[in-house]
Amino acid sequence: MPDKARVAVLVSGTGTNMAALLYASRLPGAAYEIVLVASNDLAAGALALAEAEGVATFALSHKGMKRAEHDAAMDAAAREAKADYIALAGYMRVLGPAFVADWQGRMLNIHPSLLPRYPGLDTHARAIAAGDGHGGASVHLVTDDLDMGEVLGRAEVAIAPGDTAETLAERVKFAEHQLYPRVLADYVSRPFDPDWLVAQVRERAMALPHAEETLSHGMPCFGIEKGKKFAWVSMDHHGDGKTALLAKIDGADEQAQLIENDPERYYRPAYFGDGWIGIRLDLGDTDWQSIEDWLSRSWRAVAPKKLTGLMDAADQF
Ligand code: GAR
Repeated sequence: MPDKARVAVLVSGTGTNMAALLYASRLPGAAYEIVLVASNDLAAGALALAEAEGVATFALSHKGMKRAEHDAAMDAAAREAKADYIALAGYMRVLGPAFVADWQGRMLNIHPSLLPRYPGLDTHARAIAAGDGHGGASVHLVTDDLDMGEVLGRAEVAIAPGDTAETLAERVKFAEHQLYPRVLADYVSRPFDPDWLVAQVRERAMALPHAEETLSHGMPCFGIEKGKKFAWVSMDHHGDGKTALLAKIDGADEQAQLIENDPERYYRPAYFGDGWIGIRLDLGDTDWQSIEDWLSRSWRAVAPKKLTGLMDAADQF
């Protein structure tokens, strides 16, 4: 079991979503813990609840402050708390580009509509006015494009005859409280989830020219059509519990060097000899650009000349 992911929650209001996240995090086997609740509103109900529950809090009014300065203070508080992720839960301030860039891929938000429908405000009234059959909530990654980052999960809520924005909002909250803890837990678990890790390798391996996937000795394996294999994904091989990429290298010297420099990440894969290196994917900090580089180097090592020639030509542009 990896350590629990550390999450800072940013709030501006009552904090019912913060409460849902917090209580889910206290159930056995939870994937994350809440290390900070921070608010731009000193009177936010969420702060009192967090304090009562023994969670660290930070409050700083944005009034009279420049956006970038206020963002920087929030950022400092999250770092101080050693947060790995930020969960926005009714944080009613737009975060500036520097903050968004710093937390890219590590900041989630819950929004009260079925995105991409109705970004912004007054979502329930707009859904009712449009005659939609359902409203709902979405959890998405935060990007500079307001409410438009990748959607990680949605929950639908039927719009009943006679619903007003208020009655619908109330039911959507129930759905939000189910959705957010689940999506956050799944998201922080991804870097350790063998299926997700294989999918990341697959996407990159299959983007290489003439790549094909097969299954060999129970391992997903990538090769050149009618040619040699250039990558394997070792998944709990002989019960070793590891998920790793096996890629081609120059030989014993390089293998020894890699293992010496980073013995946690690199290992000599059993049965593969000196020409291959095992690269752990499940340490939680995988640099996917480096995996992409390993894959393309490995592909080049086995590809016939006529294919590598095409790649060389393409690389010149
Ligand atoms: C939630 O409904 C959330 O979806 C919404 O604010 C509410 C916060 O309630 N967020 C937004 O509108 C973001 N644009 P809570 O304080 O009870 O969790």
